[in-house]
Amino acid sequence: MSSTLNARLALHGGDPVRDEAKRPWPTWPIHDERERENLLGVLESGAWWYGEQVAAFEAAFAKHQDALHCVSCTSGTTGGEVAVQALNLEPGDEVIVPPYTFIATATAVLRMGATPVFADVDDSWCLDPEAAEAAITPRTKALMPVHFGSRVADMDRLRTIADRHGLVIIEDACHSWGSKWMGKGTGALGLAGFFSFQASKNISAGEGGAILTDDAEFAETCRSITNCGRTPGGGPWFHDGAIGTNARITELTAALLLAQLSRLQEQTALREHNAAFLDEALSEVEGLTPQAGDPRMTQRAYHLYPMRLDPEAFGCSRENFAAAARAEGLPITTGYPLPLHAQPVFKNAARAIDYTKVSCPVAEDLCYRSGVWFHHRLLLAGENDMAEIAAIIRKVQRNAPKLQDQH
Ligand SMILES: Cc1ncc(COP(=O)(O)O)c(C=O)c1O
Repeated sequence: MSSTLNARLALHGGDPVRDEAKRPWPTWPIHDERERENLLGVLESGAWWYGEQVAAFEAAFAKHQDALHCVSCTSGTTGGEVAVQALNLEPGDEVIVPPYTFIATATAVLRMGATPVFADVDDSWCLDPEAAEAAITPRTKALMPVHFGSRVADMDRLRTIADRHGLVIIEDACHSWGSKWMGKGTGALGLAGFFSFQASKNISAGEGGAILTDDAEFAETCRSITNCGRTPGGGPWFHDGAIGTNARITELTAALLLAQLSRLQEQTALREHNAAFLDEALSEVEGLTPQAGDPRMTQRAYHLYPMRLDPEAFGCSRENFAAAARAEGLPITTGYPLPLHAQPVFKNAARAIDYTKVSCPVAEDLCYRSGVWFHHRLLLAGENDMAEIAAIIRKVQRNAPKLQDQH
């Protein structure tokens, strides 16, 4: 091991710890006979439209997440928009969102005519309950925490705050199929939550989404919105509810998702096992802190393995670290380049808030200085591969002084 540590960095002409061409990481998405059989079954049946498979997937996914109702839809983005529309917000109404997330969390609010208000994340990389409470105004109607990287936001504190101020919680659960808080899956920990099944996600049909809730009326509204504003039981040409859209998934999508869901639990257990191994292996690395868990999180999906790198303590910048680690065979990213409040789309949005004045220091630090993460597919490899990830990180740290002036 010490010879690996002392070897020249691949970035500087040395041998990489892992030659990805010879020993590739697990790929994603994956499939086997289950997907093939399900897809062929639907294909040959000729029944491609919004029927049995969709209903079966919705029932199975609701059960998997311990929710009472599931309404499928075409993407996580659509799920967020439908959930926000179902809240019946008025212009000027505010929804509190974290700035460390994918764009769709906040544009769902904008597109539905309301105003996203950014409140910082904390060490969990998720919405900071204290910052969220401080951001509440008389116009606030909802909190929208994101379970970033499958780490569940502090739902106990967020629910207490929401109750105190008469707000609802919509979870952006687009990273958290299988994550549980005190034994209950994400998605219906507040009023509702929305999920993504896009290609990189832990279950995937290329694209796809779902909204979960325990509230039958809310589910019915979401169903109506996703199904052209149809009234349940009202027939195909009767629309007396919300202004709807067509956000239905096909039977083919549902058939794929059913197959994907059938191996999710096993994969989640493997990711948890490997992440625990890695947490332990990295505990001695100075200046590198894996995203912390929480004992109330009784299962964690590990969509990502996020880490925070303190450049001073680690010995080099996060950018130099990531470039060197990639050259050693670890596909790692520095993540979101901007916190959402710095995205031009919000600066351009005609809202009462001047987003250029928003300050969220933790999210800014994660974007500009300290955040790194890799994708869950690596956590489907073996323990020896996890040891190799740790070896790469240690090798880069040992050589960090030589990386100083690269960026
Ligand atoms: C946190 C978060 N929210 C929402 C979305 C949107 O999901 P989709 O890509 O299915 O529209 C994503 C997808 O990457 C996401 O990561």
